[in-house]
Formats: sequence, C-alpha cells, structure tokens
Amino acid sequence: MDFFAVVDTQRALRRFRPDPVPDAALDRILAAATRAPSARGAEPWYFVVVRDAALRAAIGADYRRAWTAAKAAAADADRDVRDRPHYARMMRAADALAAELGTVPVLIVCCLDHAQLGPIAAPDGGLRSPVAAYASIFPAVQNLCLAARALGLGTTLTTLHTAFAPTLAARLGIPPSVEVVALVPVGYPRDRFGPTRRKPVEEVAFLDRWGAPWPKLDRGGPRA
Ligand SMILES: Cc1cc2nc3c(=O)[nH]c(=O)nc-3n(C[C@H](O)[C@H](O)[C@H](O)COP(=O)(O)O)c2cc1C
Repeated sequence: MDFFAVVDTQRALRRFRPDPVPDAALDRILAAATRAPSARGAEPWYFVVVRDAALRAAIGADYRRAWTAAKAAAADADRDVRDRPHYARMMRAADALAAELGTVPVLIVCCLDHAQLGPIAAPDGGLRSPVAAYASIFPAVQNLCLAARALGLGTTLTTLHTAFAPTLAARLGIPPSVEVVALVPVGYPRDRFGPTRRKPVEEVAFLDRWGAPWPKLDRGGPRA
C-alpha cells in the first residue's frame, strides 16, 4: 500500500473477526515496530505477543473491570471533549473493545525497559526525562499500528492496563525494570479503516511563530 493511503486510513479499530492472524504478518509488524527511533539508539523496547487463549481471557477480564471503573470517572474527566462529534461513537466502540478484548486473536504488549535508558532514568527508578523515555517507545508502537494497517489488520493503542499493571506483569512474567506502556489488540477488523478524521492542519500548524497561520493548501487525498 502507498504510505499515505496507510497513514490517512489507520485509525482505532476495536471490533475484530475471529480469523487467526498469521505469524508472518505479526513478524512483519514487529520488524516495522523495531525500525523506530530511540534515544541513544538504545532500542529499549520489548513486545510480548499474546496468543494463548487463557492468557487473553484473563487479561480481557482485567481490562473489562478497569474499563468499567474508568468509564464511571470519564463522564466528568472528559468534559473538555465529550461534546465533540466523535465522543459518543468512540465511547461505544471502547465499550465494545472492553467487552471483547479477551477474544481478540492477538494482544501485543508493548514494553519499555527502564534499565536500558541510561542517564534518562534516575537511580531511584524515576525518569529524568519522561519525554525522552516515552519518545523511545511510542514511535515503535505507532510503526506497529501503521504496519498492521498496511497488512489489513486493525489495532487500537490502549493504555488502560496501567490500572492493573502489576497483575499484567505477573501474568506475563515481565521483569521489574520493564514497564508496559501499551496494550494493542490486533486482528482483522469488523469495521472499516478510515478516512481518519482529525482537526485540519491549518488549526494545529503555525509558520515560524506561534499563532501565525500555516497556509491552507490543496493537498489532495482524503483530508483535502
Ligand atoms: C494514550 C492513549 C490511550 C488510549 N486509551 C484507549 C482505551 O483505553 N480504550 C480505547 O478503546 N481506546 C483508547 N485509545 C484510542 C483513542 O481513543 C483513539 O486513538 C482516538 O479516539 C482516535 O481514534 P480514531 O483513530 O479512530 O479516529 C487510546 C489512545 C491513546 C493515544
């Protein structure tokens, strides 16, 4: 697929068909993830590909409990975005994901190894530069999602596992220096890929100085 066709249609897909995901596709996706940049070129990432049905079911139950609790808080916490057109649809889809996560064919658990962060991590286990730390893993996660889309596979970047991180680490045998940063379900989607809807570029990009307009260009493609 053309790169821009991939990036303009990659979006959060949360309902999946039961069809198995081939190892070769997962391997290609993981290879794409590991082409990402990282501070010091340290590549402090690990990916646990969860295929085991019992493990997925257990993680799915953890996730569902965390979602139920998060949803109760979201109505108030999301008051800055809840009136936007996408919000109600997003929450319905997130509900569906929480209901089905345990049966999605593959869960990719994306991890950042703090022991490989060198001076970015402080000796007490804190982070001297959270920006540099997380910028050393999330480009890989986004590569993963884009590569999946290129192969016709849906994903959603989720971070709700932070509500049950110790349980997840214990289930998967993740060592203490390693932080799970994202839980990405992967499968053939039941819904369509994009066009992905976002704020227009003119609203979020400036030329030379904050607030100076970036000119609206006819750039073609789905967002023109
Ligand atoms: C940090 C982060 C956390 C997210 N957490 C969740 C989540 O807990 N559950 C979920 O269904 N989607 C989650 N998402 C997906 C977002 O809701 C999604 O990327 C956004 O609504 C845009 O959706 P779209 O690409 O379909 O337009 C998360 C995304 C990010 C970047």
